[in-house]
Amino acid sequence: MNCSTECSCKEESDQEKYARIEEIIQEYKDKEGNLIQILHFAQGIYGYLPLELQQFIAQKLDIPLSKVYGVTSFYSFFSIEPKGENTIRVCLGTACYVRGGKKIIDRLKELLSVEVGSTTTDGKFTLEVARCIGACGLAPAMTINDTVYKQVNPDKLQAILKKAIAQNEVKK
Ligand code: FES
Repeated sequence: MNCSTECSCKEESDQEKYARIEEIIQEYKDKEGNLIQILHFAQGIYGYLPLELQQFIAQKLDIPLSKVYGVTSFYSFFSIEPKGENTIRVCLGTACYVRGGKKIIDRLKELLSVEVGSTTTDGKFTLEVARCIGACGLAPAMTINDTVYKQVNPDKLQAILKKAIAQNEVKK
């Protein structure tokens, strides 16, 4: 017997993911506010919401693609691009902004050669901006995956990124 507890989700084919999403669509089809809920499920299952998937959802719900796209492009928690293995969120709430949050973003853009809202070409990092993450007293702050980094010094970012990769590798 194979007692491995390793996750096998990565091996699920697109076809299987679409089939699961279709089941959700059927379940939520006639419920109020269904589009946002379906999109949440779809993103959870597929990882992000590429245009083809949005088209699939629009077709199954018999609504125009523009309606689906209107929602996915409006809410920042929906992603239409694949996410990296690590998600960096730099806080640009008032305290962090005043204490140099923007400099952190600029340095990360430089270090990773990536724009805000995008993922590095090697798929390691997605760079995002966040609102207050509750560490205002120790601004500027950012998160990498579930770890919060406070009083971030732009000159230490390279070391922080290396550490985050190592931690993520250990977790896998
Ligand atoms: S403003 Fe950045 S943690 Fe509150």
